[in-house]
Amino acid sequence: MRIWRYTKALLRGVVNIAVFAGGLWAFGAAAQEATSFKEDVFPIIELRCLECHVPGAEGYEVSGLDLRTFDSLMKGTKHGPVVVPRSAFESNLIAVIDHRTAQEIRMPHNARKMSKCERFAIRAWINQGARDN
Ligand code: HEC
Repeated sequence: MRIWRYTKALLRGVVNIAVFAGGLWAFGAAAQEATSFKEDVFPIIELRCLECHVPGAEGYEVSGLDLRTFDSLMKGTKHGPVVVPRSAFESNLIAVIDHRTAQEIRMPHNARKMSKCERFAIRAWINQGARDN
């Protein structure tokens, strides 16, 4: 029957669209996977910042910023928070690692600037809400 041949083609089209949409959805979900504090951000801090930002070390003694835990990071320096959840641009933490500040407070202090990749991970984590995840 002629009409059936068209219906089959139409059905195949609908199935193809559904499969394509499903693929797009899966791709979007993967692309938006949350940046994790524990898995992505803390290992960078540990490697690049921690030696100076623990009690007894110069970064902590001068600024008051203790980077050992999520809570101590969120507390910030003696002048207040350095992370503004959902706004990396307003976060002093990002300003100092992107070198948008005076020379003396560019971080890591007197060392090579962090890679784009490291800075991007921290920025993404802040823009996603700076959660303890
Ligand atoms: C070699 C030691 C050292 C390392 C490594 C280091 N810091 Fe610091 N940090 C300091 C010192 C010293 C100060 C105080 C600077 C000042 O006020 O003159 C400071 C201050 C800061 C401040 C406060 C700036 C302000 O507004 O006064 C932030 C935020 C900061 N550090 C973040 C970081 C981050 C993030 C890292 C890792 C990427 C890092 N630091 C690595 C030594 C260090």
